[in-house]
Amino acid sequence: MEKREKIKVGIVGAGNIANSAHLPAYQNCGNAVPVAICDINFERAKKTAETYGIEQVYSSVEEMLQKADIEAVDICTWNNGHAPVCIAAAKAGKHVLCEKPLAMNLSQALEMQKAVDDAGVIFMLAVPSRFGYENMYLRDMYEKGELGEVYYAKTSAIRRRGTPTGWFTDKKTSGGGPVIDIGIHRIDAAWYLMGNPKPVRVSANVFTKIGNYQTKGVSRWIGTPCPDNQFDCEDSGAGVIHFENGATMLFEASWALNTQSKEETIICGTKAGATLEPFTIYGERNDHLSTDNITVFNSDKKFLLEIEHFADCVLKGTRETKYPMSQAVDMQRMLQAIYDSAKSGKEIIL
Ligand SMILES: NC(=O)c1ccc[n+]([C@@H]2O[C@H](COP(=O)([O-])OP(=O)(O)OC[C@H]3O[C@@H](n4cnc5c(N)ncnc54)[C@H](O)[C@@H]3O)[C@@H](O)[C@H]2O)c1
Repeated sequence: MEKREKIKVGIVGAGNIANSAHLPAYQNCGNAVPVAICDINFERAKKTAETYGIEQVYSSVEEMLQKADIEAVDICTWNNGHAPVCIAAAKAGKHVLCEKPLAMNLSQALEMQKAVDDAGVIFMLAVPSRFGYENMYLRDMYEKGELGEVYYAKTSAIRRRGTPTGWFTDKKTSGGGPVIDIGIHRIDAAWYLMGNPKPVRVSANVFTKIGNYQTKGVSRWIGTPCPDNQFDCEDSGAGVIHFENGATMLFEASWALNTQSKEETIICGTKAGATLEPFTIYGERNDHLSTDNITVFNSDKKFLLEIEHFADCVLKGTRETKYPMSQAVDMQRMLQAIYDSAKSGKEIIL
């Protein structure tokens, strides 16, 4: 078998997502290898480097970009690190894989887009559901026209009690609460399966009510504390996004809401519709209703497929990644409009 070249990657941020998802994926990755790592918490970077056999360890991205022999960076920092790290990396000529969300707000996102375009580097936003087999199956159906015109979607990322700890609740570090943290995953799943139409109008509201709960017996995603860590973002949000092609998406997201927890994505086209959870396709066959439960591979390889795809784009020199900057900026436009609509009490025209 032909031996494939591996791109050399510098990991930025040695926290949970790096240790629990990205670095385990690199261990099985045929075309990318982490050779350097940095974290503002040097001890954390050192410990992670020991665990994963990474030779070069730094306490700042600037030093890593200057000294490490890398072609790309993989950004796994708090959300407020995404823009400065991406811009510095692009200016240093490094390709960028960036954890979701792209940025804290739209103006940062546009600065990132300029830096990446000016440098001509390859960029991909890391949203693993795009590499889930159910999503890939449905996107394939969409592209073949088998769903018809997809004109309606409804998507939920509802946790009854699931506020993450640490920096996630601190707006100056996270940019926002469940909408930007977990809502983005489901909004993106629906948007991708609608063919990524251009968003044109958004009306939404967000609430800060019960997220700072003391409920016992519930589990949480542990984020590291940031300086002056506080809880000042929303704990739930809901709204409607309209698209240029006339399609509409309803969304809801919560870290804490007095209802049943659920993850749900429904898309409806003129030829067929589908739910992702459970994976079911609703159509018609021989003039009768059809309800198909398709068995796809299980999706525990999403992060691996994501990293391999990004590395493959770098090796081929193509900027057409599965989540290019143009779409990442459009996603940020939707997130920004949700918060702007909530703040102003008005519909936002994009
Ligand atoms: N794709 C997913 O399903 C998923 C799941 C969880 C988190 N995430 C994303 O991953 C990112 C990290 O989340 P986490 O849960 O790993 O957080 P974490 O707190 O566990 O780790 C983040 C690490 O980044 C470091 N850091 C912060 N700013 C830095 C900077 N400027 N330079 C270098 N290091 C810096 C922190 O010291 C910390 O060690 C976030 O953007 C989050 O939205 C994605």
